[in-house]
Amino acid sequence: MRFDVVTLFPEMILESSSYGVTGTAIEKKVVGLSVWNPRDYTHDRHRTVDDRPYGGGPGMVMKCQPLCDAVDDAKLKNKNTDYKVIYLSPQGRQITQELLVEASQYSQLILVAGRYEGIDERFIDAVCDEEWSLGDYVISGGELAALVVIDSITRLIPGVLGDEDSAQQDSHMNGLLDTPHYTRPEKGELGAVPNVLLSGNHKAIERWRMKQALGRTALKRPDLLKAKELSAEQDALLKEFRNEVHESD
Ligand SMILES: C[S@@+](CC[C@H](N)C(=O)[O-])C[C@H]1O[C@@H](n2cnc3c(N)ncnc32)[C@H](O)[C@@H]1O
Repeated sequence: MRFDVVTLFPEMILESSSYGVTGTAIEKKVVGLSVWNPRDYTHDRHRTVDDRPYGGGPGMVMKCQPLCDAVDDAKLKNKNTDYKVIYLSPQGRQITQELLVEASQYSQLILVAGRYEGIDERFIDAVCDEEWSLGDYVISGGELAALVVIDSITRLIPGVLGDEDSAQQDSHMNGLLDTPHYTRPEKGELGAVPNVLLSGNHKAIERWRMKQALGRTALKRPDLLKAKELSAEQDALLKEFRNEVHESD
C-alpha cells in the first residue's frame, strides 16, 4: 500500500507519520509514503498556488494547474493502476472504519489536502474520484484528515500490528465497541481486575469480553447496536449484561 499526499505542508505529513505504528510501517517499507507540493509545480517567480475567487467573496482558492501536475507526477512515478484520488473535504463522505477497510484494498491512495477556501471545483470534478470528510466541522487544511487516513489504514495492513488480531478486535471493526482492558496491578486504589480475566478459562474470558462489548455499545452507542443484527447468543449476553447493570443500580 502506498500513500501520496498532495499538500502545501509536506513536512507536516512526513513528521507526523514518522511516529509509532505508521513510522515503523514506513521504515519497514510495508507502506510507502511520498509528498507532492503543488508549489513545486508552479512556473512563476512567486510560486503561486492560489488566486482570488471568481464572483468575489473572502479568501483564496487553490488553482487547478499545480494540483493537476502534482497528482500526475504521483501517478507517473508509481505506475500503479489500482489507485484512487481522494480530496479531503468537509463536503465528502464521512470517514468510517467501513470506508477505511474498503480503501485498504487499494494499492495506492493519492490524498489531496486543500487549504484556504478550498480548491477550484474543476479540479475536484475532473481529477478526484471521491471526497472524504473527518466530520461535520471545518478545519484549516486537509493535512490532518490525510494523516488520519494514513494512520487508520496502515494499522489494518497485515503485518503492521504486532498481533494480527489486534485490529480485528478494535472498536467499529464488527459494529461494536471494544471490550474493556486491564493491566497490572490486580488490585489497586482504583479497584480490582474482574475475576474472570484472572481465571485462565479462555472460553469464559471470551464470553465475558463479548458481553462487555455488547453492553458498552448499548450504553455508549445505542445507534451502532440498532444497525447490527445480533446472533441468539449475543442477544442472550446483552440481556445478561442489562440484568447485571440493573441489579447493581
Ligand atoms: C478552510 S477549509 C475550506 C472549507 C470550504 N470553504 C467549505 O466550507 O467546504 C480548507 C481545507 O481544509 C480541509 N478540510 C476542512 N474541513 C475538513 C473536514 N471536515 N474533513 C476533511 N478535510 C477538511 C479541506 O481540504 C479544505 O479544502
